[in-house]
Amino acid sequence: MRLQAALSLLALCVPSTLAIYADEVNHIDFHHALLGLPSSQSTFFLKPSSASNASLLYTLSEKSILGAINPRDGSLVWRQNVSRSLLPDSAAAGGGLLRASDGINAVVSATGDYISSWNALDGKLIWENWFTSEGSVADLELLELEDASAAGTFRDTIALVNAGEAGVVKRIDGQTGDVKWEYKDESGDVPFQVSSSPTEVFYISLQSALLKGSKIKATSLDSVTGKQTYQQTLNSENDVTGPDSIVFVGANTAAPIIVWVDKARKVLKVNVIGTKQVSTINIDNKGEEIKNIKVHAPKKLNSLPHFLVGYETESSSWAEVYHTDMKLGTVTKAYDIPRVQERSVFATSNKDANVYFTRNTESETTVVSSASHGVLGRWALKNPSTEQALHAVSEVVDKGDTVAVRSASLLASGDWQLIRNGQAEWTRHEGLSRASAAAWAETDEQEELAHQLEVEGHESLHGAYVHRVKRHIKDLEYLPEWLKELPKRILTSILTDEVSNLDSFGISKPIIIATENGRVFALDSGNHGAVSWSVKAAETDAWNVKAIITQPGTATVYADDGSSVTLKVSSGEIVGRTAPSSKVHSIAVINNGASIPVSIRENGTPMETINGSGFLVTLSADGKVLGWSAQDNKTPVWEFIPARGQKIIRATSRPTHDPVASIGKVLGDRSVLYKYLNPNLALITAVGDNSASFYLLDAVSGTVLHSSIQENVDTSQPIASTISENWFAYSFFGDSTDASEAKGHQLVISELYESFIPNDRGPLNSATNYSTLHDVDAPAPPHVIAQSFVIPEPISHMAVTQTRQGITTRQLLCTLPSSNSIIGIPRQILDPRRPVNRDPSSTEAEEGLFKYNPFLEFDGRWFLTHSRDVAGINNVLVKDTLLESTGLVIAFGGDVYGTRVMPSQAFDVLGKGFSKIQLVLTVVALGIGVTVLAPIVRKKQINTIWKTGS
Ligand SMILES: *[C@@H]1O[C@H](CO)[C@@H](O)[C@H](O)[C@H]1NC(C)=O
Ligand SMILES: *[C@@H]1O[C@H](CO)[C@@H](O)[C@H](O)[C@H]1NC(C)=O
Ligand SMILES: *[C@@H]1O[C@H](CO)[C@@H](O)[C@H](O)[C@H]1NC(C)=O
Ligand SMILES: *[C@@H]1O[C@H](CO)[C@@H](O)[C@H](O)[C@H]1NC(C)=O
Repeated sequence: MRLQAALSLLALCVPSTLAIYADEVNHIDFHHALLGLPSSQSTFFLKPSSASNASLLYTLSEKSILGAINPRDGSLVWRQNVSRSLLPDSAAAGGGLLRASDGINAVVSATGDYISSWNALDGKLIWENWFTSEGSVADLELLELEDASAAGTFRDTIALVNAGEAGVVKRIDGQTGDVKWEYKDESGDVPFQVSSSPTEVFYISLQSALLKGSKIKATSLDSVTGKQTYQQTLNSENDVTGPDSIVFVGANTAAPIIVWVDKARKVLKVNVIGTKQVSTINIDNKGEEIKNIKVHAPKKLNSLPHFLVGYETESSSWAEVYHTDMKLGTVTKAYDIPRVQERSVFATSNKDANVYFTRNTESETTVVSSASHGVLGRWALKNPSTEQALHAVSEVVDKGDTVAVRSASLLASGDWQLIRNGQAEWTRHEGLSRASAAAWAETDEQEELAHQLEVEGHESLHGAYVHRVKRHIKDLEYLPEWLKELPKRILTSILTDEVSNLDSFGISKPIIIATENGRVFALDSGNHGAVSWSVKAAETDAWNVKAIITQPGTATVYADDGSSVTLKVSSGEIVGRTAPSSKVHSIAVINNGASIPVSIRENGTPMETINGSGFLVTLSADGKVLGWSAQDNKTPVWEFIPARGQKIIRATSRPTHDPVASIGKVLGDRSVLYKYLNPNLALITAVGDNSASFYLLDAVSGTVLHSSIQENVDTSQPIASTISENWFAYSFFGDSTDASEAKGHQLVISELYESFIPNDRGPLNSATNYSTLHDVDAPAPPHVIAQSFVIPEPISHMAVTQTRQGITTRQLLCTLPSSNSIIGIPRQILDPRRPVNRDPSSTEAEEGLFKYNPFLEFDGRWFLTHSRDVAGINNVLVKDTLLESTGLVIAFGGDVYGTRVMPSQAFDVLGKGFSKIQLVLTVVALGIGVTVLAPIVRKKQINTIWKTGS
């Protein structure tokens, strides 16, 4: 007994969870650090420091993430979340703006009313400012400097704020972010853009003309004082109906032009800003309707004032290059870039004053100089993508008589791809940043076996036997192949670092992810989460996927319009589709051997009935919880309405796979506390004005088994909850004014037992013969032991690790939005039976309990994401594997992160330090020893017999 106690004490000294070792990073986990789709106006190559030639690729994505990418390998250098607009509807502000200038180590961005400047090399904040009282920033430019002496210092920024009734132009100090001057235009014009030159700032606005259309008005402001100097109004009212008619407004003297087009897209008009003259260009549409006109001009100061106009029709594309004469205020056509029968994406780049235009078509990349039409470089695309390119930025390197070019294009699939001289260098799958649902899938080989086993299950005993023998005989066909591979497998398994390839233990499973832009991705979790395929499954940009349900070999994606798409897991081939029907609120899954999906309407009623047993708990849009028998979708069995003034925000149940290894908890004195193991528990979270309530329901009868209410809760902060086995946990922000109560983020854990008395099974008795439906009496309520902890930061989402048999201790997985990480808190730490205000007794110590401390510091070893910055996570899924020690975790929503968890360490896997060579050598040495010693021993034995005999 004493020895046992000593052993378990010793066991306690071994840390229950060890952090991820450095050599496991990138081995057991993977991370797609995403930005979101790069926007066309705010993406560019830039040399952040004049001391280095290396440029980085900058973008402000549609998710308002500002980031720098290393163009060599596509890795993220830094990123910042700039969606800090205080305006109520910041989405109304549209896409953000990003501006920078070569050699100046700052990038300036604006999103809504928020404007900020960041160090271009390391992404540190230089300054920030909000114009909340005025409105959102409509345009942004960096001011050109008159004196070159100030080169290298931060440039002042000109911002145009759309203040509803008025347009406000501000000059913002490049060092501090303070406003130096502002010019307010209250004439009622529509503020449009700003443009700058060394001495002037131009404010471009649209003045509505008397009858129809708009006149373009350019107001010149003194760049030092902000005083209006003159105004120029262009008679554009016959062509310009609104901001959409204006194709381009240049940012500075590299492109000092305004370009607009008439409604019929027959003529293009160009004005050099500040002059009265308008040049008219007739568009030769070659008989086809022009779909798109884009102007590409250099942004860098002292570039030649050349620009390119790209035209696109349904089937073809071409471009024209123009030169601007600043003195005369005219533009002249220099040359044509020929028409091809495919789409082209143009991009501009600079080298000193020279301007280059890059054309990426579906089959090749060409580079021309703006000065003459000669093609400087032409590369056929090595592996042309089938996806259409939406926009691109490029960088041309002039190597004397040849050029090299790299272009980063955004494809329709959401992939951001860098192509260098026709060769794809890297691809970032930015489309994954809009993941709305995910699931683990089984591959085809597993499908085949599962199918065969199913057949055997349905046959008669004799039939099944014959089938099995046949199957094994068929398997023999692979034997020669297998034997041939065998020596190689043995050798590699001995020699490689990887001790055992765990793929066959279900560690490496495909992950299916559906994104809002109608795509489905498959990630290979065994290969660092690489994208194996991605397909367009729905023609929409707002695909609201409710669930992905996988069957061996296929995955079915269910959308909120009642439609579904079934894909092959191995190839992404679409094998089935159902048409949209009615609006689906959620998808419930009934597990009767196979997973059967049931669509739930807004009002909480199931759309289908299931032939078989099963219960459903649904949440209606108006905040009722309804319980259903799966065979009846007309009348609910029970209805749960929370207390007056409360609103239900979440209903969760125990996971479908939630095995319980032990039905009781063995105490230090060998008595047992029996767990309350009701398989049909549902945890309902409801919030009131400043309270949060947690109800534990029996899903079959609808009885409230337990409830707890927390007062003084800040309901605007995240409230997370989860339930598993015989316990549930939740977290909230306690905002108490009472000094005796804790103020801060709290985590509460509650365990359910049949009885407080050890060795007592309470009124439930044998759980095997327990049915809430047939019992006339309501189910006996559990005995609940709860404890709360103050935690250092909010938790936005909770999940519980799963393993095959539930023997391994569980971890509570918490998503921490403020530190962009995911932690796994070991369940032993969250034991509500930890002794309060005293040291544990010897029996408690034997059980592993230690003194309760109200403050739960997050141990560095609990961080599954270790030092990675895993941002934007709103969902974490868990899955068991064939190894009891190991579970899988995938987190998505913004970034995509996947890892393996081993809450009780890898007790069933050989560690990396295990040397197979040493083992083999030991066995060989023993063998040699035995062969050498055996004759000697035998001789000695014979001698002994002779001696005793004589
Ligand atoms: C930048 O490029 C120039 C010529 O292309 C070269 O002479 C110089 O050494 C480069 N500087 C750095 C810091 O790489
Ligand atoms: C329901 O299942 C029973 C037995 O499995 C079967 O006899 C019956 O035909 C099924 N009904 C429907 C509508 O499928
Ligand atoms: C379950 O309980 C019922 C009555 O409560 C009894 O008739 C039945 O035999 C029990 N079944 C088992 C397997 O113990
Ligand atoms: C950026 O910040 C906003 C506001 O704090 C938040 O809603 C959004 O989820 C964040 N985005 C990412 C990708 O972290």
